[in-house]
Amino acid sequence: MSSHPSLVILTGAGISAESGLATFRGAEGLWEGHRVQDVATPEGFEHNPGLVHRFYNQRRAALSAVQPNAGHEALVRLEKSWPVEFLLITQNVDDLHERAGSRKLRHMHGELLRTLCIACGESSPWQGGMGPDSFCPQCMKKGKLRPDIVWFGEMPYFMDEIFAALNRCDIFIAVGTSGHVYPAAGFVRTANARGARTIEVNLADTAASESFDERRTGPVTQVLPALVNELLPRRIWSRFSD
Ligand code: APR
Repeated sequence: MSSHPSLVILTGAGISAESGLATFRGAEGLWEGHRVQDVATPEGFEHNPGLVHRFYNQRRAALSAVQPNAGHEALVRLEKSWPVEFLLITQNVDDLHERAGSRKLRHMHGELLRTLCIACGESSPWQGGMGPDSFCPQCMKKGKLRPDIVWFGEMPYFMDEIFAALNRCDIFIAVGTSGHVYPAAGFVRTANARGARTIEVNLADTAASESFDERRTGPVTQVLPALVNELLPRRIWSRFSD
């Protein structure tokens, strides 16, 4: 273990649950009453763009009613106190990490508050409703916008940077993610292969739990602040110099 440990954190829908945003995998496997293939695949969008726009418009509108919670805030404290390499990767498309103050952040599955133009290929910030009649803010074409969300069958963003960070990391923490969706579900194995200490934070065991060295079980707003207190540098240096 390096005396200057490098830290990579992966978050999923569980970190935003206590803020009031629904997680993806409910008992019935539906997303807010919709089938995944209808609202989260390129084919679903091609088949019914109006439905897909309405689905993400609702998700975007819901952001204004929620606030970051103690879990998001704990990660900001960790980033600010961490003296060396730190990367926060989120699968979430909400903006709660950045609203809490996280800066070294990568949205690997895109962002609700961005749009992607299928005509010019540019991604742009977006607020409010989007629909089949919307204009691209970059090329001004009409009817070519889609939510800048990575759907099933598409390549997540920042993969080179993420795998480079995982291959250097000394500590990997996965927070509030069910371990069902790849490539994110496989990050723990990359971190294990590198010899990192791996920690899972979740309400319950997940599909990936057995791959982690340690599990912290409970709600993010309680478990994550406690873990961050443990990891904060003044404690970690003495621990690693044992
Ligand atoms: N505290 C801790 N963990 C929680 C909490 C909480 N308050 N609430 C829920 N969880 C955990 C659940 O136990 C579950 O393991 O969060 C996880 C949420 O899992 P999913 O709904 O599957 O979300 P996620 O893992 O982020 O999904 C990954 O799937 O469909 C795609 O692109 C979508 O980014 C998403 C990806």
